[in-house]
Amino acid sequence: MDLQISQIAIILFSLLLILTAASAAAAAINLCPATSCRHRDPTIRFPFRLNSGDGDGDTTQPKSCGYPGFDLSCDNKSNQTIINIGGLLFTVKAVDYATQQLWINDPDNCLPNRLLSLNLSDSAFRGVYPQDFTLFNCSLNLDLAKFQLNPVGCLSGPNYSVFATSSDKAVQFFLSKSCTFMASVQVPVQWPYYEQVVTSDLSDDIRLTWLEPRCRRCETRRGRCGLQTNFSLEVGCSQQGQHGLPRTARYAITVGAGLPAMLCVIGMLCFVCGKLKSRGSTSQNPRPRYEFNSSVAPQPTLVIGLDGPTIESFPKLVLGESRRLPKPNDNICPICLSEYHPKETLRTLPDCTHCFHADCVDEWLRLNASCPVCRSSHERHLYS
Ligand SMILES: *[C@@H]1O[C@H](CO)[C@@H](O)[C@H](O)[C@H]1NC(C)=O
Ligand SMILES: *[C@@H]1O[C@H](CO)[C@@H](O)[C@H](O)[C@H]1NC(C)=O
Ligand SMILES: *[C@@H]1O[C@H](CO)[C@@H](O)[C@H](O)[C@H]1NC(C)=O
Repeated sequence: MDLQISQIAIILFSLLLILTAASAAAAAINLCPATSCRHRDPTIRFPFRLNSGDGDGDTTQPKSCGYPGFDLSCDNKSNQTIINIGGLLFTVKAVDYATQQLWINDPDNCLPNRLLSLNLSDSAFRGVYPQDFTLFNCSLNLDLAKFQLNPVGCLSGPNYSVFATSSDKAVQFFLSKSCTFMASVQVPVQWPYYEQVVTSDLSDDIRLTWLEPRCRRCETRRGRCGLQTNFSLEVGCSQQGQHGLPRTARYAITVGAGLPAMLCVIGMLCFVCGKLKSRGSTSQNPRPRYEFNSSVAPQPTLVIGLDGPTIESFPKLVLGESRRLPKPNDNICPICLSEYHPKETLRTLPDCTHCFHADCVDEWLRLNASCPVCRSSHERHLYS
């Protein structure tokens, strides 16, 4: 047994050396400094790059800083962060690099107007929750006024209102009120609207995601993603600026420490099994099975929580004044049992979409990898 362990130790040590050397030889990548249009505006870094377009040397980053289709600019007047998607300009409200998502809105505060001509198919972006909406133009009459509907204000006039709905029942309703069909649009909503939400003014930020370049793994490991310096569109991950060992070395250590630990566990299990077998063969009354299960079976899960970057990678939202929630009727945080208020930050668990105060659920997730409501596990929640 002693000999075996020392042999394994030598093999693992050489593995560690090889992996460390391999990581040092990894391809070099372009690393550009992060920037932003204004203080508190979304950070601009790979795959995005700041390209003001007017050749201003101060605000234009080299092409190699970003991925094609991810150019941003700062608005001349308001200095908001602007992105051009399919020929339309949008303000960038937030970017989540770890989950590869961005939240955008209309700089002119009439998002539905822009949605009427938005076509994502030639852009790098897709809706996270694309939802079909039908828009109707209704002449305002007393009959319609008694229903408290939420019109699209910026498309409505003094004698007519425009309504947007994703509910089939509401479509029938508007047709019965002799409203005229205006358009069908696919809206990349932040959260899907449920049937009971009759109309929406479609003013909430829309939420997009991008598939390429894939930097999720790198971002959740706090690495910096960038284009490789060989002028291809391949991306690499740099762990520079991170204290401690490179990723591959950490793998090696995990393997180095994990394997002997696993061997010990297996050894112990064999030992226990052997004991039980010998007891089973000598004893006349074998113990009932459930006792065997409860006393000897290894604990299925140790209580292990999630690390900070993984928790941060779960979607967050700040409640608006209307407090529209991902799931209607879910207006109480299941952890602290207090109601959600405007401006509070909520976090949603990606697999089961249960929603909580970010402060409450972050503390929980640091100790448990599962949803406090449905116990759905987020342990292995890797996006790529
Ligand atoms: C979007 O653009 C693509 C190609 O440019 C086109 O094939 C498609 O029909 C357009 N979709 C809509 C809804 O206009
Ligand atoms: C809605 O209909 C009215 C007349 O019924 C028309 O004047 C108005 O331009 C229409 N609005 C839109 C946004 O199409
Ligand atoms: C709206 O309706 C009122 C009363 O029916 C009418 O006097 C007015 O001219 C209409 N306004 C427009 C912009 O059509």
